[in-house]
Amino acid sequence: MYKIISNKKLAENIHEMIIEAPRVAHSAKPGQFIILIIDKKGERIPLTIADYDKEKGTVNIVVQAIGYSTKKLVSLKENEYIKDFAGPLGNESEFVHEDIEILKNKRIVFVGGGVGSAPIYPQVKWFSERNIKTDVILGFKNKDFIILKEEFEKLNCNLHICTDDGSYGFKGLVTNKLQDMLDNEEIDEVITIGPMIMMKFVSKLTKKYNIKTIASLNTIMLDGTGMCGGCRVSIGGKVKFTCVDGPEFDAHLINFDEAMNRQTTFSDIEKKHSCRLDG
Ligand code: NAD
Ligand code: FES
Repeated sequence: MYKIISNKKLAENIHEMIIEAPRVAHSAKPGQFIILIIDKKGERIPLTIADYDKEKGTVNIVVQAIGYSTKKLVSLKENEYIKDFAGPLGNESEFVHEDIEILKNKRIVFVGGGVGSAPIYPQVKWFSERNIKTDVILGFKNKDFIILKEEFEKLNCNLHICTDDGSYGFKGLVTNKLQDMLDNEEIDEVITIGPMIMMKFVSKLTKKYNIKTIASLNTIMLDGTGMCGGCRVSIGGKVKFTCVDGPEFDAHLINFDEAMNRQTTFSDIEKKHSCRLDG
């Protein structure tokens, strides 16, 4: 059993939960995910690790309560328990294996969208802890949906917050901000996590400029074990499993349209089950 240390609402339907899971925290690296099961009747929920503290033995997850299980998860309180919390799973981000001196000379831009900003956090933190300054573009619908702003502000990064309606920061989509930067500055690499449609357009944009781009396909996963096949994606025409071969891939090789189609496969069933908690 895994104890819930805290459960904090960050925005409407978005919660940050800190879970006591020392073994996961000890081995966690940026880019990896966990699978949790709430109770003995629960389904497997894959979630990207949003932060970890090896000393305290805790792992942070950021949950968007959209379906039956995620709504049930965020309704749990501090000091309650989760049945299973397995991880870290999946491959760590590629940059973890790169030469630090090479990384120091690279201009890396992170592009996060909405809840997808959360898994960007441990990546930017990894660079920050090594005194490497990165640029971070985060996009939200409006100021009420902004998450983790104070946490990012504490890191060694140039933070650019965008809102679709201009209620905070830059007015426009993350791709508008990225376009500005690409037109005016030298950028070596882009790492993007967020809605599939956002990552598709980030990738389309950087392809024009021939800039290496990595995208995380975490949200397409179901059981996260390599067994169900639900996370199959085409990468450069080859079939890959997100949970085993990813979750991060070369964005220019991803067939985003196919991945978006696959994401909708179970939406009717999910809606039906989600109503069970809405009453
Ligand atoms: P959202 O719909 O509010 O979008 C966030 C931002 O993405 C927008 O503010 C905008 O700047 C940008 N964006 C959206 N559509 C775009 C488009 N067509 N072109 C360019 N930019 C666009 O995000 P949300 O409601 O918080 O949803 C978050 C999504 O992130 C969910 O779909 C979730 O599945 C996904 N997510 C992905 C991962 C991952 O690993 N890929 C992890 C967590 C969450
Ligand atoms: Fe089921 Fe990858 S999520 S095989």
